[in-house]
Order: sequence, then C-alpha cells, then structure tokens
Amino acid sequence: MNIRPAVITALLFCPGLGASHAQDARPTATPDPDARTALHLTPAERAAVLQEMHLFLSGVGEMAGALARNDMAGTAQAARRLGIRMAVDVPPSLREKLPMEFRQRGAEVHRDFDQIALDADSLGDVSYSLNQLSGTLHKCVACHARYQIRPSPARAGR
Ligand code: HEC
Repeated sequence: MNIRPAVITALLFCPGLGASHAQDARPTATPDPDARTALHLTPAERAAVLQEMHLFLSGVGEMAGALARNDMAGTAQAARRLGIRMAVDVPPSLREKLPMEFRQRGAEVHRDFDQIALDADSLGDVSYSLNQLSGTLHKCVACHARYQIRPSPARAGR
C-alpha cells in the first residue's frame, strides 16, 4: 500500500479531480489532491502572508485568554491589533497579485476585529464577544478551504 489515506479520501470526495477542477491545474501526470485555488507568490510574499496569519492566530489566542478572565479591555486591545489598520502594511506589489475575492475576505476579517474591539469596549459582554469571535473564525476556515499558496514560478513544485 503506497497510497496514503488522505489521497484516497481526497479522491473519494472529489471525483472531478483533474477534470472539472482543471481551470487552475495544467495537465499533470498525477492529479493534485489539494484542489484549492493556488496563489502563486514569491517566497518573500508567502512569508509576508503567513506572518499575517501568525498574528491572526496569536491575537485570537490572546482574545480567548482575555475573555476567559473577563478582561474586556484586554480583549479590545488584542482585537484592535488585528483590525483594518494591519492590512495597510501589505505592499502594493503583493496586493496586486491577490484575487479580489481573497482581498475582500481578508478585509472583512480585519473589519470584524475592529467591530469586536468596539463592542468589547462599549458592551463589556463576554458571550457577545465570543459569539462574534466564533463568526469570524468561521471566515478564517472558509478562506483556508478556498485558497493555498504555491511558490512561484508557477510549477516549481512544493
Ligand atoms: C483571505 C483569506 C484568509 C483569511 C481570511 C485567513 N487566512 Fe489564514 N491562511 C490563508 C492562506 C492562503 C494560507 C496558506 C495556506 C496554504 O498554503 O496551505 C493561510 C495560512 C494560515 C496559517 C498557517 C501559517 C503557516 O505558517 O503555515 C494560520 C495559522 C492561519 N492561516 C491562521 C488564520 C486565522 C486565525 C485566521 C482568522 C482570524 C485566518 N488565518 C484568516 C488565507 C486566509
């Protein structure tokens, strides 16, 4: 058995692999089990996107800790750091390579964090904030289900 279970699962659940999902994938000998839309970025651009992701994850961790302590000021502070201001740091050359839908999803998540910060300050309601955070985390999940990053040039492999 040299076929990994993950590959089998992917083939079971994506019977159209290599056929219907071929808009992005050029014909290759082995169909790629990762059917997500590929963003072709240079190593530096990839590192910049992943760095933003690390900030997201650590900020969300801080927010969860602050909410557990009923620390609404700390929650607001952690959320505000992930707000739309963070997106201003993205260099224009990278921004141009990202599809509109990707940028919209990203901006929406940043705006959510600004809203969470405002509401944490004004309402001071832990479960309200947790509910907002949960909604935002679903947006993280949705974007991850949709996109992957590949090093450029396009067929450099992984
Ligand atoms: C606009 C789309 C988008 C949104 C929104 C998004 N991500 Fe990501 N994230 C990505 C992409 C693309 C990757 C790279 C996936 C790959 O290549 O396999 C990634 C990777 C990551 C990684 C892995 C980093 C690494 O070093 O490999 C983490 C952690 C992460 N995201 C956390 C988050 C969190 C937390 C949120 C929400 C607060 C979030 N992301 C929202 C697109 C997004």
